[in-house]
Amino acid sequence: MILKDAAWKLLKANRRVTDGHQYTLPSPTSYPYQWFWDSCFHALVLSKLEPEAAKEEIRSLVSKQLRNGMIPHIIYWQPGKLHRYDWGEKDTSSITQPPILAHVVWQIYNRDNDIKFLEEIYSPVFNYYNYLIDHRDLHHRNLISIINPDESGEDNSPRFDEVLGLKPDVTLEEHLKRREKLIADFKKCYFDAETCMRQYFWVKDVPFNSIMIEGLRALAHIASRLGKEDDAQFCEKEAALISHAMRKFMFEDGIYWSVKGSDYKKLKTATWAIFAPLFAGLYTDSEAKKLVESQLVNDKTFMSAYGIRTTSKTEPSYNPEGYWRGPVWMAPHWFIYKGLLKYKFYDQAEMLRRASVQLIENEGFRENFNPETGKGQGARNFTWGALILDMESPK
Ligand code: GLC
Repeated sequence: MILKDAAWKLLKANRRVTDGHQYTLPSPTSYPYQWFWDSCFHALVLSKLEPEAAKEEIRSLVSKQLRNGMIPHIIYWQPGKLHRYDWGEKDTSSITQPPILAHVVWQIYNRDNDIKFLEEIYSPVFNYYNYLIDHRDLHHRNLISIINPDESGEDNSPRFDEVLGLKPDVTLEEHLKRREKLIADFKKCYFDAETCMRQYFWVKDVPFNSIMIEGLRALAHIASRLGKEDDAQFCEKEAALISHAMRKFMFEDGIYWSVKGSDYKKLKTATWAIFAPLFAGLYTDSEAKKLVESQLVNDKTFMSAYGIRTTSKTEPSYNPEGYWRGPVWMAPHWFIYKGLLKYKFYDQAEMLRRASVQLIENEGFRENFNPETGKGQGARNFTWGALILDMESPK
């Protein structure tokens, strides 16, 4: 079966409807709920195949927006085998995930120019970005904070080890225990972001802020299309402020690093996060060239025969079977691919696209892939492989 048909078939097989809300499970056996950035990825791909299903996916995602504007990273639409933590909310979590939503809404609009959909979805989307600006920047330094590693979408990434007090060789189980403790701690401060982050976990993450910038730029286009020029200017201004702040606090010797808590100490663990600013065009052309040549295509650090490692091989925490501590994942591939195109690195982008296609053809729609052997790992029937349909060949 050709890849496009296989991906579409998978998205349809993982589709569910609860109380009139239609959404897609990332993997029916391993991830039986609706997840924030997964839904955005689904909608992105569906916008090319079935625009109405893409809109439904976004509608169900925003339907559980909290009063303060936050959109939760998990919606527990139905019972599932996966453990449900007490997040202080009835049927959702109380943390979010990287803010790719506006980018996706803008892509959906560009497929069929459905202005009614844009009008309908505008307020929840605008309020979401406003929430991040208002509630996640305690020092007013124009950097958006995450309050839990899971908000990065890379649950056990080693770039958070220092903040969590964990060693490079921490096991998956130990890591999960530490994050369970974090949820219990958050309960003590009633899941209030501002109070909790000061005490328990506070990171300004490079991918999250890069994605925020692209999200705000897309939101500016959306606002402008709807004749809301004040909002559009606000979004452009915020995107520029975050870009400047990232330069000021995160950039050193040609690389953007996530920074921690109130002291803004750089967390210098080399993960794929150093490539995320390409997605938002934050490196200059010469910085990007140096980064791509010295890190991205370097087989001693990130480039494997099967794609880009999520953690550099040079890190003591590197583990090719360690979930976000090494394996190749399709979402980082997609972000890096888009970033490479932005800088016209067509050959490297094509290499990444081919590696992605190869992995899925050989191993199927798996959650992640061992960068040393190419073997599929983790969840099965996992939807992120469908992102390949949004990695159009550059040539
Ligand atoms: C894992 C991933 C996260 C994803 C979720 C559902 O928790 O780390 O990024 O959203 O699974 O697929």
